[in-house]
Amino acid sequence: MAQAASDVRAMFDRIAGRYDVANRVMSAGLDVLWRRRAMRFLLDGIDERSWVLDLGAGTLDGAVEILRQRPEARVVAVDFARTMLAEGRCKPGAAAVALHAADGHRLPYRDGAFAAAFSGFCVRNLRDLASGLAELRRVIRPAGRLVILEFFRPARPRLFWDGLWTGRLLPLLGWAIGGDRAAYRYLPDSIQRFDTRADFETKLRTAGFADVRGQELFPGGIASLVEAR
Ligand SMILES: C[S@@+](CC[C@H](N)C(=O)[O-])C[C@H]1O[C@@H](n2cnc3c(N)ncnc32)[C@H](O)[C@@H]1O
Repeated sequence: MAQAASDVRAMFDRIAGRYDVANRVMSAGLDVLWRRRAMRFLLDGIDERSWVLDLGAGTLDGAVEILRQRPEARVVAVDFARTMLAEGRCKPGAAAVALHAADGHRLPYRDGAFAAAFSGFCVRNLRDLASGLAELRRVIRPAGRLVILEFFRPARPRLFWDGLWTGRLLPLLGWAIGGDRAAYRYLPDSIQRFDTRADFETKLRTAGFADVRGQELFPGGIASLVEAR
């Protein structure tokens, strides 16, 4: 059963202080490369001083990467877990990011406010994915780009990645590093409850994104990048 939004928010607030180190260790640093790649797609062809949204920005690694690649961009980082945002605030480059504590289901922005939006490992947590995607479509200007990084439920069972790595080793590593086994049990459980990439792409089309393309990321398609406009 899906967890209540308040449980998810409380969990991220609880693990905020250890989130970055756990992330780096559990992905062997690949999350940094995945975000770099995502931002190249996100920023391709948009104006230097464009407004760019990072939904579920967490400790601001995505927002800071946007500014590293596009220093003139106006970046707004939204997250409903204030401790996650606060944790990222001292990172180099983060002072230029506007931080907003808000829920992705009700974004406090006018229609078409952003030239582009990014969301990394957040949409899997949304209580009502259809309304979250509709909200993203609303705040991105027509033909503006959305880039999603996510762990989707695999279409075919992958014994090593799903059974062993994500299912068994990650929760143990999360426990050892983050001191919170339940939070890292949530990761494999939420992946198993989530859409396959193909299902998710269909929902993006339903939400009004006409051009949707997904790709698996190295290694083994454990994470995916989906680009839509
Ligand atoms: C796994 S973290 C990812 C953080 C960051 N994007 C990254 O790549 O490291 C997911 C983030 O999404 C946020 N989140 C989940 N559901 C949300 C919602 N409904 N509204 C706003 N933020 C949400 C969580 O608080 C958490 O900080």
